[in-house]
Amino acid sequence: MSPSPSPSPVPSSRYGFELDLVERPFTERGARLLVTAGADPADGLRVARAAYETPLAATTELTGLLVHDAAGNPLPVRSATPVEVAFAGGVSLLFADPATLVLTGHGARASWRLPDGTARGLALDGCHVLAGPPGEWSAPAVRAAAEGRWADWFARMPAVRPDLAERARMAWWTLAVNLLPIAGREGLVPSKYGYVGVWNWDALFHAVALRHGDPALARDQILLVLEHQLPDGRLPDVVHEHGVLAATTDLPRADHARLAEHVGSANGARPERAPVPVTKPPLAAWAVWKVHETDPDVPFLAAVYPRLVRAHAWWFAASDPDGDGLPEYLHPYSSGLDDSPVWDYGPRAEPPDLNSYLIVEADRLADIAAVLGRPAEAARWRERAAAHARLLVDRRWDGTRFTTLAAGAPVPVRTALDLMPLFTGRLPAEVAAALERTLRSPAYWGERPVPTVAFDDPAFDPDAMWRGPVWLNVNYLLAEGLERSGFPGAAAGLRERTLAMVRDAGGLYEYWNPLTGARGPRATSGFGWSAALFLDLARQIR
Ligand code: GLC
Repeated sequence: MSPSPSPSPVPSSRYGFELDLVERPFTERGARLLVTAGADPADGLRVARAAYETPLAATTELTGLLVHDAAGNPLPVRSATPVEVAFAGGVSLLFADPATLVLTGHGARASWRLPDGTARGLALDGCHVLAGPPGEWSAPAVRAAAEGRWADWFARMPAVRPDLAERARMAWWTLAVNLLPIAGREGLVPSKYGYVGVWNWDALFHAVALRHGDPALARDQILLVLEHQLPDGRLPDVVHEHGVLAATTDLPRADHARLAEHVGSANGARPERAPVPVTKPPLAAWAVWKVHETDPDVPFLAAVYPRLVRAHAWWFAASDPDGDGLPEYLHPYSSGLDDSPVWDYGPRAEPPDLNSYLIVEADRLADIAAVLGRPAEAARWRERAAAHARLLVDRRWDGTRFTTLAAGAPVPVRTALDLMPLFTGRLPAEVAAALERTLRSPAYWGERPVPTVAFDDPAFDPDAMWRGPVWLNVNYLLAEGLERSGFPGAAAGLRERTLAMVRDAGGLYEYWNPLTGARGPRATSGFGWSAALFLDLARQIR
Protein backbone atom coordinates (compact mmCIF):
# COMPACT_ATOMS: atom_id res chain seq x y z
CA MET A 1 0.00 0.00 0.00
CA SER A 2 1.48 3.35 -0.92
CA PRO A 3 0.95 6.06 1.70
CA SER A 4 -1.14 9.07 0.84
CA PRO A 5 0.40 12.38 1.89
CA SER A 6 -0.92 13.79 5.14
CA PRO A 7 -3.81 16.21 4.65
CA SER A 8 -2.72 18.30 7.65
CA PRO A 9 -1.75 21.92 6.98
CA VAL A 10 1.85 23.06 7.18
CA PRO A 11 2.43 23.50 10.90
CA SER A 12 2.92 27.08 11.95
CA SER A 13 5.32 26.44 14.79
CA ARG A 14 9.03 26.06 14.19
CA TYR A 15 8.81 22.86 16.25
CA GLY A 16 6.54 21.33 13.62
CA PHE A 17 3.38 21.19 15.72
CA GLU A 18 1.44 23.29 18.21
CA LEU A 19 0.38 22.54 21.74
CA ASP A 20 -3.39 22.84 22.04
CA LEU A 21 -3.22 22.99 25.87
CA VAL A 22 -6.04 20.42 26.02
CA GLU A 23 -4.61 17.14 24.69
CA ARG A 24 -1.11 18.55 24.72
CA PRO A 25 -0.47 20.60 27.86
CA PHE A 26 2.44 22.98 28.25
CA THR A 27 4.94 21.08 30.36
CA GLU A 28 8.62 20.19 30.39
CA ARG A 29 11.00 17.29 30.69
CA GLY A 30 11.23 16.58 34.43
CA ALA A 31 8.32 18.88 35.35
CA ARG A 32 5.25 17.77 37.25
CA LEU A 33 3.61 21.13 36.50
CA LEU A 34 1.11 21.14 33.60
CA VAL A 35 -0.53 24.19 32.04
CA THR A 36 -3.90 23.43 30.44
CA ALA A 37 -6.81 25.33 28.93
CA GLY A 38 -10.54 24.64 29.05
CA ALA A 39 -12.88 24.74 26.07
CA ASP A 40 -13.59 28.47 26.52
CA PRO A 41 -10.53 30.78 26.27
CA ALA A 42 -12.31 33.25 28.57
CA ASP A 43 -11.90 30.72 31.40
CA GLY A 44 -8.14 31.19 31.30
CA LEU A 45 -5.41 28.65 31.99
CA ARG A 46 -4.98 26.16 34.79
CA VAL A 47 -1.78 24.98 36.45
CA ALA A 48 -1.84 21.55 38.10
CA ARG A 49 0.71 18.95 39.20
CA ALA A 50 1.01 15.37 37.94
CA ALA A 51 1.15 12.80 40.77
CA TYR A 52 0.70 9.02 41.04
CA GLU A 53 -2.97 7.97 41.04
CA THR A 54 -4.18 11.51 41.80
CA PRO A 55 -6.66 13.42 39.65
CA LEU A 56 -5.41 16.80 38.44
CA ALA A 57 -8.42 18.42 40.16
CA ALA A 58 -6.79 17.45 43.47
CA THR A 59 -3.41 18.94 42.59
CA THR A 60 -4.53 22.18 40.94
CA GLU A 61 -2.37 25.11 41.98
CA LEU A 62 -4.27 27.88 40.21
CA THR A 63 -7.08 28.41 37.69
CA GLY A 64 -8.46 31.22 35.55
CA LEU A 65 -5.07 32.61 34.56
CA LEU A 66 -5.76 35.56 32.23
CA VAL A 67 -3.61 38.42 30.95
CA HIS A 68 -4.82 41.98 30.21
CA ASP A 69 -3.13 45.10 28.86
CA ALA A 70 -2.92 48.33 30.85
CA ALA A 71 -6.34 49.42 29.54
CA GLY A 72 -7.93 46.17 30.69
CA ASN A 73 -8.25 44.58 27.25
CA PRO A 74 -7.69 40.82 27.23
CA LEU A 75 -4.39 39.58 25.77
CA PRO A 76 -5.29 36.13 24.38
CA VAL A 77 -2.96 33.15 23.97
CA ARG A 78 -1.40 33.50 20.50
CA SER A 79 0.56 30.27 20.35
CA ALA A 80 1.85 27.45 22.50
CA THR A 81 5.04 25.60 21.61
CA PRO A 82 7.37 23.32 23.59
CA VAL A 83 9.27 26.49 24.61
CA GLU A 84 6.51 28.89 25.65
CA VAL A 85 2.88 29.87 25.87
CA ALA A 86 2.86 33.25 24.12
CA PHE A 87 0.10 35.75 24.84
CA ALA A 88 -0.55 38.85 22.75
CA GLY A 89 1.32 41.93 23.96
CA GLY A 90 4.66 40.15 24.40
CA VAL A 91 3.70 38.22 27.54
CA SER A 92 5.04 34.64 27.85
CA LEU A 93 4.80 31.69 30.16
CA LEU A 94 8.06 29.70 30.31
CA PHE A 95 9.72 27.00 32.40
CA ALA A 96 12.75 28.46 34.19
CA ASP A 97 13.51 24.98 35.54
CA PRO A 98 11.37 21.85 35.91
CA ALA A 99 9.88 23.15 39.18
CA THR A 100 9.40 26.77 38.17
CA LEU A 101 6.95 28.46 35.81
CA VAL A 102 7.60 32.13 35.11
CA LEU A 103 5.52 34.86 33.46
CA THR A 104 7.47 37.46 31.53
CA GLY A 105 6.29 40.76 30.06
CA HIS A 106 5.93 44.48 30.63
CA GLY A 107 3.01 46.82 31.19
CA ALA A 108 0.42 44.02 31.35
CA ARG A 109 -1.48 42.48 34.22
CA ALA A 110 -2.03 38.79 35.04
CA SER A 111 -4.83 37.50 37.23
CA TRP A 112 -5.78 34.05 38.51
CA ARG A 113 -7.53 32.23 41.34
CA LEU A 114 -6.19 29.90 44.00
CA PRO A 115 -8.03 26.57 44.51
CA ASP A 116 -9.92 28.08 47.50
CA GLY A 117 -11.25 30.84 45.22
CA THR A 118 -8.92 33.63 46.42
CA ALA A 119 -8.19 36.08 43.58
CA ARG A 120 -4.56 36.91 42.83
CA GLY A 121 -3.00 39.40 40.43
CA LEU A 122 0.35 40.71 39.29
CA ALA A 123 1.54 43.77 37.36
CA LEU A 124 4.07 42.36 34.89
CA ASP A 125 7.41 44.07 34.70
CA GLY A 126 10.12 41.54 33.92
CA CYS A 127 10.22 37.90 34.97
CA HIS A 128 7.89 36.70 37.76
CA VAL A 129 7.56 33.26 39.34
CA LEU A 130 3.99 32.01 38.85
CA ALA A 131 4.42 28.50 40.28
CA GLY A 132 7.42 27.06 42.09
CA PRO A 133 9.91 28.30 44.67
CA PRO A 134 10.63 32.04 44.88
CA GLY A 135 13.65 33.12 42.81
CA GLU A 136 15.13 35.75 40.52
CA TRP A 137 15.15 34.89 36.82
CA SER A 138 16.09 36.79 33.68
CA ALA A 139 13.59 36.44 30.84
CA PRO A 140 16.15 36.33 27.97
CA ALA A 141 18.22 33.72 29.80
CA VAL A 142 15.16 31.59 30.59
CA ARG A 143 14.00 31.68 26.96
CA ALA A 144 17.48 30.97 25.58
CA ALA A 145 17.85 27.98 27.90
CA ALA A 146 14.44 26.59 26.91
CA GLU A 147 15.21 27.01 23.21
CA GLY A 148 18.54 25.29 23.71
CA ARG A 149 17.01 22.35 25.56
CA TRP A 150 14.43 21.76 22.83
CA ALA A 151 16.89 22.24 19.99
CA ASP A 152 19.11 19.57 21.58
CA TRP A 153 16.20 17.18 22.04
CA PHE A 154 14.83 17.57 18.51
CA ALA A 155 18.33 17.18 17.08
CA ARG A 156 18.26 13.61 18.46
CA MET A 157 14.96 12.74 16.81
CA PRO A 158 15.15 9.82 14.37
CA ALA A 159 14.50 10.82 10.74
CA VAL A 160 11.16 9.67 9.29
CA ARG A 161 9.30 9.87 5.99
CA PRO A 162 7.93 13.40 5.30
CA ASP A 163 4.24 12.48 5.59
CA LEU A 164 4.92 11.20 9.14
CA ALA A 165 7.15 14.08 10.26
CA GLU A 166 4.59 16.24 12.05
CA ARG A 167 3.21 13.35 14.11
CA ALA A 168 6.74 12.08 14.75
CA ARG A 169 7.81 15.46 16.15
CA MET A 170 4.77 15.41 18.41
CA ALA A 171 5.72 11.89 19.46
CA TRP A 172 9.33 12.82 20.18
CA TRP A 173 8.15 15.81 22.24
CA THR A 174 5.73 13.50 24.12
CA LEU A 175 8.60 11.20 25.09
CA ALA A 176 10.57 14.16 26.49
CA VAL A 177 7.79 15.76 28.50
CA ASN A 178 6.70 12.41 29.96
CA LEU A 179 10.09 12.09 31.69
CA LEU A 180 10.02 12.59 35.47
CA PRO A 181 12.51 11.85 38.24
CA ILE A 182 11.35 8.52 39.69
CA ALA A 183 13.26 6.20 42.03
CA GLY A 184 16.60 7.88 41.36
CA ARG A 185 16.41 7.87 37.56
CA GLU A 186 14.61 9.72 34.79
CA GLY A 187 11.55 7.59 34.18
CA LEU A 188 9.17 7.94 31.26
CA VAL A 189 5.58 7.88 32.49
CA PRO A 190 2.80 6.62 30.18
CA SER A 191 0.93 9.92 30.42
CA LYS A 192 0.96 12.91 32.73
CA TYR A 193 -2.83 12.66 32.43
CA GLY A 194 -3.49 9.72 34.70
CA TYR A 195 -0.51 7.35 34.54
CA VAL A 196 2.20 8.98 36.63
CA GLY A 197 4.64 6.19 37.36
CA VAL A 198 6.88 3.80 35.46
CA TRP A 199 4.71 0.92 34.22
CA ASN A 200 6.64 -2.25 33.48
CA TRP A 201 5.88 -3.06 29.83
CA ASP A 202 5.31 0.60 28.96
CA ALA A 203 8.92 1.23 30.02
CA LEU A 204 10.11 -1.53 27.69
CA PHE A 205 8.21 -0.06 24.74
CA HIS A 206 9.52 3.41 25.61
CA ALA A 207 13.06 2.03 25.50
CA VAL A 208 12.45 0.74 21.97
CA ALA A 209 12.06 4.33 20.71
CA LEU A 210 14.53 6.09 23.00
CA ARG A 211 17.29 3.80 21.67
CA HIS A 212 17.25 5.82 18.43
CA GLY A 213 18.08 9.16 20.06
CA ASP A 214 19.32 8.50 23.58
CA PRO A 215 20.31 4.86 24.22
CA ALA A 216 21.45 5.60 27.79
CA LEU A 217 17.98 6.92 28.59
CA ALA A 218 16.53 3.80 26.93
CA ARG A 219 18.65 1.59 29.20
CA ASP A 220 17.48 3.65 32.21
CA GLN A 221 13.85 2.74 31.47
CA ILE A 222 14.70 -0.96 31.55
CA LEU A 223 16.84 -0.56 34.66
CA LEU A 224 14.01 1.22 36.48
CA VAL A 225 11.96 -1.96 36.12
CA LEU A 226 14.76 -4.48 36.72
CA GLU A 227 16.16 -2.69 39.77
CA HIS A 228 12.82 -3.14 41.51
CA GLN A 229 12.72 -6.89 40.97
CA LEU A 230 11.19 -8.65 43.98
CA PRO A 231 13.07 -11.31 45.96
CA ASP A 232 11.05 -14.05 44.22
CA GLY A 233 12.18 -12.82 40.79
CA ARG A 234 8.96 -11.12 39.68
CA LEU A 235 9.14 -7.68 38.11
CA PRO A 236 6.70 -5.14 39.54
CA ASP A 237 3.74 -3.85 37.55
CA VAL A 238 4.54 -0.21 38.44
CA VAL A 239 7.42 1.72 40.03
CA HIS A 240 6.20 5.04 41.38
CA GLU A 241 7.27 7.86 43.65
CA HIS A 242 6.07 6.06 46.81
CA GLY A 243 7.22 2.50 46.03
CA VAL A 244 6.03 -0.28 43.74
CA LEU A 245 2.81 -2.00 42.71
CA ALA A 246 3.66 -5.71 42.71
CA ALA A 247 0.68 -7.39 44.39
CA THR A 248 -3.06 -6.85 44.75
CA THR A 249 -2.37 -5.44 48.24
CA ASP A 250 -0.65 -2.47 46.53
CA LEU A 251 -3.63 -1.61 44.31
CA PRO A 252 -5.48 1.67 44.75
CA ARG A 253 -8.98 1.04 46.16
CA ALA A 254 -10.71 2.26 42.98
CA ASP A 255 -9.03 -0.52 41.01
CA HIS A 256 -10.58 -3.26 43.15
CA ALA A 257 -14.02 -1.78 42.51
CA ARG A 258 -13.38 -1.50 38.76
CA LEU A 259 -12.15 -5.10 38.54
CA ALA A 260 -15.11 -6.40 40.54
CA GLU A 261 -17.42 -4.98 37.87
CA HIS A 262 -16.21 -7.18 35.05
CA VAL A 263 -13.98 -10.02 36.27
CA GLY A 264 -16.09 -13.16 36.04
CA SER A 265 -19.12 -11.27 34.70
CA ALA A 266 -19.78 -13.94 32.04
CA ASN A 267 -19.85 -16.95 34.36
CA GLY A 268 -20.07 -15.65 37.92
CA ALA A 269 -16.44 -16.46 38.81
CA ARG A 270 -15.34 -14.12 41.58
CA PRO A 271 -12.13 -12.06 41.78
CA GLU A 272 -9.42 -13.67 43.92
CA ARG A 273 -9.60 -12.60 47.60
CA ALA A 274 -6.15 -13.73 48.73
CA PRO A 275 -3.26 -11.42 47.76
CA VAL A 276 -2.01 -12.16 44.26
CA PRO A 277 1.24 -11.03 42.63
CA VAL A 278 0.80 -8.38 39.92
CA THR A 279 3.28 -7.88 37.11
CA LYS A 280 3.18 -7.29 33.35
CA PRO A 281 3.81 -9.48 30.29
CA PRO A 282 7.41 -10.71 29.99
CA LEU A 283 9.24 -8.70 27.33
CA ALA A 284 12.31 -7.38 29.18
CA ALA A 285 14.94 -9.51 27.39
CA TRP A 286 13.28 -8.63 24.07
CA ALA A 287 13.61 -4.91 24.87
CA VAL A 288 17.18 -5.28 26.18
CA TRP A 289 18.17 -6.97 22.93
CA LYS A 290 16.55 -4.28 20.80
CA VAL A 291 18.50 -1.55 22.58
CA HIS A 292 21.68 -3.61 22.25
CA GLU A 293 21.10 -4.04 18.50
CA THR A 294 20.99 -0.26 18.05
CA ASP A 295 23.71 0.62 20.55
CA PRO A 296 25.77 -2.42 21.58
CA ASP A 297 26.67 -2.36 25.26
CA VAL A 298 28.07 -5.64 26.56
CA PRO A 299 28.56 -4.45 30.18
CA PHE A 300 24.86 -3.55 30.23
CA LEU A 301 23.97 -7.04 29.00
CA ALA A 302 26.19 -8.56 31.69
CA ALA A 303 24.58 -6.39 34.36
CA VAL A 304 20.98 -7.22 33.47
CA TYR A 305 21.32 -10.88 32.43
CA PRO A 306 21.02 -12.44 35.93
CA ARG A 307 17.87 -10.41 36.61
CA LEU A 308 16.36 -11.35 33.26
CA VAL A 309 17.02 -15.02 34.00
CA ARG A 310 15.33 -14.80 37.41
CA ALA A 311 12.38 -12.89 35.97
CA HIS A 312 11.90 -15.62 33.35
CA ALA A 313 12.10 -18.37 35.97
CA TRP A 314 9.45 -16.65 38.11
CA TRP A 315 6.69 -17.35 35.59
CA PHE A 316 7.32 -21.10 35.73
CA ALA A 317 7.87 -21.22 39.51
CA ALA A 318 5.06 -18.91 40.65
CA SER A 319 2.61 -18.29 37.83
CA ASP A 320 1.83 -21.79 36.55
CA PRO A 321 -0.75 -23.03 39.06
CA ASP A 322 -1.51 -26.30 37.23
CA GLY A 323 2.19 -26.97 36.64
CA ASP A 324 1.74 -27.88 32.97
CA GLY A 325 4.74 -25.82 31.86
CA LEU A 326 2.49 -23.19 30.27
CA PRO A 327 2.28 -20.25 32.73
CA GLU A 328 -0.91 -18.23 33.24
CA TYR A 329 -1.65 -14.66 34.22
CA LEU A 330 -2.83 -14.62 37.85
CA HIS A 331 -4.37 -11.15 37.59
CA PRO A 332 -5.93 -9.06 34.79
CA TYR A 333 -3.31 -6.33 35.23
CA SER A 334 -0.51 -8.87 34.75
CA SER A 335 -1.76 -9.40 31.20
CA GLY A 336 -1.64 -5.65 30.55
CA LEU A 337 -5.13 -6.05 29.06
CA ASP A 338 -7.11 -4.97 32.12
CA ASP A 339 -10.69 -5.28 30.85
CA SER A 340 -10.23 -7.76 27.98
CA PRO A 341 -13.27 -10.07 27.68
CA VAL A 342 -10.85 -12.90 28.50
CA TRP A 343 -11.28 -11.71 32.10
CA ASP A 344 -15.07 -11.99 31.95
CA TYR A 345 -14.49 -15.69 32.65
CA GLY A 346 -12.50 -15.47 35.84
CA PRO A 347 -9.55 -14.05 37.74
CA ARG A 348 -6.77 -16.09 36.12
CA ALA A 349 -6.28 -16.72 32.43
CA GLU A 350 -3.94 -18.05 29.81
CA PRO A 351 -4.34 -16.27 26.49
CA PRO A 352 -1.76 -17.45 23.93
CA ASP A 353 0.33 -14.27 24.11
CA LEU A 354 1.97 -15.08 27.46
CA ASN A 355 3.69 -18.26 26.36
CA SER A 356 4.58 -16.66 23.03
CA TYR A 357 6.40 -13.90 24.89
CA LEU A 358 8.16 -16.44 27.11
CA ILE A 359 9.40 -18.29 24.01
CA VAL A 360 10.81 -15.06 22.54
CA GLU A 361 12.37 -14.20 25.90
CA ALA A 362 14.18 -17.56 25.90
CA ASP A 363 15.49 -16.83 22.39
CA ARG A 364 16.72 -13.37 23.40
CA LEU A 365 18.32 -14.82 26.56
CA ALA A 366 20.14 -17.18 24.20
CA ASP A 367 21.36 -14.21 22.14
CA ILE A 368 22.51 -12.39 25.27
CA ALA A 369 24.25 -15.46 26.72
CA ALA A 370 26.08 -15.92 23.40
CA VAL A 371 27.37 -12.32 23.43
CA LEU A 372 28.47 -12.82 27.04
CA GLY A 373 30.62 -15.75 25.93
CA ARG A 374 28.48 -18.52 27.44
CA PRO A 375 27.78 -20.77 24.43
CA ALA A 376 26.54 -23.76 26.45
CA GLU A 377 24.02 -21.58 28.25
CA ALA A 378 22.99 -20.03 24.95
CA ALA A 379 22.36 -23.49 23.51
CA ARG A 380 20.25 -24.43 26.54
CA TRP A 381 18.10 -21.30 26.11
CA ARG A 382 17.69 -22.05 22.43
CA GLU A 383 16.53 -25.57 23.25
CA ARG A 384 14.14 -24.15 25.92
CA ALA A 385 12.62 -21.84 23.32
CA ALA A 386 12.14 -24.68 20.85
CA ALA A 387 10.66 -27.03 23.48
CA HIS A 388 8.31 -24.35 24.81
CA ALA A 389 7.07 -23.58 21.29
CA ARG A 390 6.40 -27.32 20.72
CA LEU A 391 4.48 -27.49 24.01
CA LEU A 392 2.36 -24.45 23.12
CA VAL A 393 1.40 -25.94 19.76
CA ASP A 394 0.86 -29.48 21.12
CA ARG A 395 -1.38 -28.38 23.98
CA ARG A 396 -3.14 -25.26 22.72
CA TRP A 397 -3.47 -25.50 18.92
CA ASP A 398 -6.83 -27.12 18.17
CA GLY A 399 -6.28 -27.37 14.43
CA THR A 400 -7.86 -24.00 13.63
CA ARG A 401 -6.89 -21.65 16.47
CA PHE A 402 -4.95 -21.28 19.69
CA THR A 403 -7.12 -21.77 22.78
CA THR A 404 -7.47 -19.19 25.50
CA LEU A 405 -8.03 -20.70 28.94
CA ALA A 406 -9.63 -19.06 31.96
CA ALA A 407 -9.20 -20.91 35.24
CA GLY A 408 -8.11 -23.92 33.20
CA ALA A 409 -11.12 -24.07 30.85
CA PRO A 410 -11.35 -22.90 27.20
CA VAL A 411 -13.30 -19.67 26.70
CA PRO A 412 -15.16 -18.59 23.55
CA VAL A 413 -13.78 -15.03 23.10
CA ARG A 414 -11.57 -14.34 20.10
CA THR A 415 -8.94 -11.68 20.73
CA ALA A 416 -5.90 -10.41 18.87
CA LEU A 417 -3.83 -12.31 21.45
CA ASP A 418 -4.89 -15.53 19.67
CA LEU A 419 -2.56 -14.46 16.84
CA MET A 420 0.45 -13.66 19.04
CA PRO A 421 2.14 -17.07 18.60
CA LEU A 422 3.27 -15.55 15.26
CA PHE A 423 5.61 -13.42 17.40
CA THR A 424 7.71 -16.49 18.21
CA GLY A 425 8.70 -17.21 14.60
CA ARG A 426 8.78 -20.85 15.74
CA LEU A 427 5.45 -22.23 14.53
CA PRO A 428 5.06 -25.11 12.07
CA ALA A 429 4.52 -23.53 8.62
CA GLU A 430 0.86 -24.58 8.35
CA VAL A 431 0.03 -23.13 11.80
CA ALA A 432 1.74 -19.83 10.99
CA ALA A 433 -0.07 -19.68 7.64
CA ALA A 434 -3.43 -20.27 9.33
CA LEU A 435 -2.79 -17.43 11.79
CA GLU A 436 -1.74 -15.09 9.00
CA ARG A 437 -4.93 -15.96 7.11
CA THR A 438 -7.03 -15.25 10.21
CA LEU A 439 -5.28 -11.92 10.77
CA ARG A 440 -5.93 -10.94 7.16
CA SER A 441 -9.56 -12.09 7.25
CA PRO A 442 -12.48 -9.69 7.89
CA ALA A 443 -12.46 -10.82 11.53
CA TYR A 444 -9.31 -8.73 12.15
CA TRP A 445 -8.36 -6.90 8.95
CA GLY A 446 -9.85 -3.62 7.80
CA GLU A 447 -8.70 -0.12 7.04
CA ARG A 448 -7.46 0.03 10.63
CA PRO A 449 -6.25 -3.32 11.88
CA VAL A 450 -5.95 -4.89 14.45
CA PRO A 451 -9.02 -4.77 16.71
CA THR A 452 -8.09 -6.20 20.11
CA VAL A 453 -11.29 -8.29 19.95
CA ALA A 454 -12.37 -9.78 16.58
CA PHE A 455 -14.83 -7.55 14.72
CA ASP A 456 -17.36 -10.39 14.59
CA ASP A 457 -17.03 -11.51 18.22
CA PRO A 458 -20.11 -10.75 20.36
CA ALA A 459 -17.85 -9.03 22.93
CA PHE A 460 -16.43 -6.57 20.35
CA ASP A 461 -16.90 -2.94 21.43
CA PRO A 462 -14.99 -0.38 19.31
CA ASP A 463 -14.68 2.16 22.12
CA ALA A 464 -14.01 0.10 25.25
CA MET A 465 -10.31 -0.07 26.05
CA TRP A 466 -9.15 -3.69 25.47
CA ARG A 467 -12.52 -4.90 24.15
CA GLY A 468 -12.00 -3.82 20.53
CA PRO A 469 -9.90 -0.66 20.08
CA VAL A 470 -6.56 -0.68 18.25
CA TRP A 471 -3.49 -0.44 20.49
CA LEU A 472 -0.06 0.24 19.06
CA ASN A 473 1.79 -2.33 21.15
CA VAL A 474 -0.39 -5.18 19.87
CA ASN A 475 0.06 -4.03 16.26
CA TYR A 476 3.78 -3.57 16.76
CA LEU A 477 4.28 -7.07 18.18
CA LEU A 478 2.07 -8.66 15.52
CA ALA A 479 3.92 -6.86 12.72
CA GLU A 480 7.21 -8.11 14.12
CA GLY A 481 5.67 -11.58 14.40
CA LEU A 482 4.50 -11.54 10.77
CA GLU A 483 8.01 -10.59 9.72
CA ARG A 484 9.61 -13.28 11.87
CA SER A 485 7.14 -15.88 10.63
CA GLY A 486 7.88 -15.21 6.97
CA PHE A 487 5.12 -12.76 5.97
CA PRO A 488 6.99 -9.52 5.18
CA GLY A 489 4.20 -8.25 2.89
CA ALA A 490 1.56 -8.58 5.59
CA ALA A 491 3.96 -7.02 8.11
CA ALA A 492 4.53 -4.00 5.84
CA GLY A 493 0.78 -3.64 5.25
CA LEU A 494 0.08 -3.68 8.98
CA ARG A 495 2.80 -1.09 9.65
CA GLU A 496 1.55 1.24 6.92
CA ARG A 497 -2.06 1.06 8.08
CA THR A 498 -1.07 1.60 11.70
CA LEU A 499 1.08 4.62 10.86
CA ALA A 500 -1.66 6.11 8.66
CA MET A 501 -4.22 5.73 11.44
CA VAL A 502 -2.04 7.58 13.94
CA ARG A 503 -0.96 10.21 11.42
CA ASP A 504 -4.56 11.01 10.48
CA ALA A 505 -6.20 10.88 13.93
CA GLY A 506 -4.38 13.93 15.25
CA GLY A 507 -2.61 12.81 18.40
CA LEU A 508 -0.73 10.13 20.32
CA TYR A 509 -3.71 8.53 22.00
CA GLU A 510 -3.87 5.50 24.23
CA TYR A 511 -6.10 3.60 21.77
CA TRP A 512 -8.24 4.15 18.67
CA ASN A 513 -11.68 3.08 17.46
CA PRO A 514 -10.93 0.56 14.66
CA LEU A 515 -14.11 1.46 12.74
CA THR A 516 -13.66 5.25 12.66
CA GLY A 517 -9.99 5.81 13.51
CA ALA A 518 -11.07 8.27 16.22
CA ARG A 519 -9.50 8.51 19.65
CA GLY A 520 -11.21 6.14 22.11
CA PRO A 521 -13.66 8.24 24.14
CA ARG A 522 -11.95 7.41 27.43
CA ALA A 523 -8.42 7.07 26.03
CA THR A 524 -5.75 9.31 27.50
CA SER A 525 -3.58 11.54 25.29
CA GLY A 526 0.16 12.07 25.11
CA PHE A 527 0.50 8.31 25.60
CA GLY A 528 4.10 7.14 25.85
CA TRP A 529 4.03 3.79 24.06
CA SER A 530 1.87 5.15 21.24
CA ALA A 531 4.51 7.86 20.75
CA ALA A 532 7.38 5.39 21.09
CA LEU A 533 6.04 2.66 18.82
CA PHE A 534 4.81 5.13 16.19
CA LEU A 535 8.40 6.39 15.97
CA ASP A 536 9.93 2.94 15.84
CA LEU A 537 7.42 1.77 13.20
CA ALA A 538 8.15 4.92 11.20
CA ARG A 539 11.85 3.98 11.31
CA GLN A 540 11.08 0.52 10.00
CA ILE A 541 9.28 1.63 6.83
CA ARG A 542 11.66 4.44 5.79
C1 GLC B 1 -3.46 0.47 31.41
C2 GLC B 1 -3.14 -0.63 30.40
C3 GLC B 1 -1.82 -1.29 30.75
C4 GLC B 1 -0.74 -0.23 30.84
C5 GLC B 1 -1.13 0.86 31.83
C6 GLC B 1 -0.17 2.03 31.81
O1 GLC B 1 -3.70 -0.07 32.67
O2 GLC B 1 -4.17 -1.57 30.36
O3 GLC B 1 -1.48 -2.26 29.79
O4 GLC B 1 0.47 -0.81 31.21
O5 GLC B 1 -2.40 1.38 31.49
O6 GLC B 1 -0.12 2.59 30.54
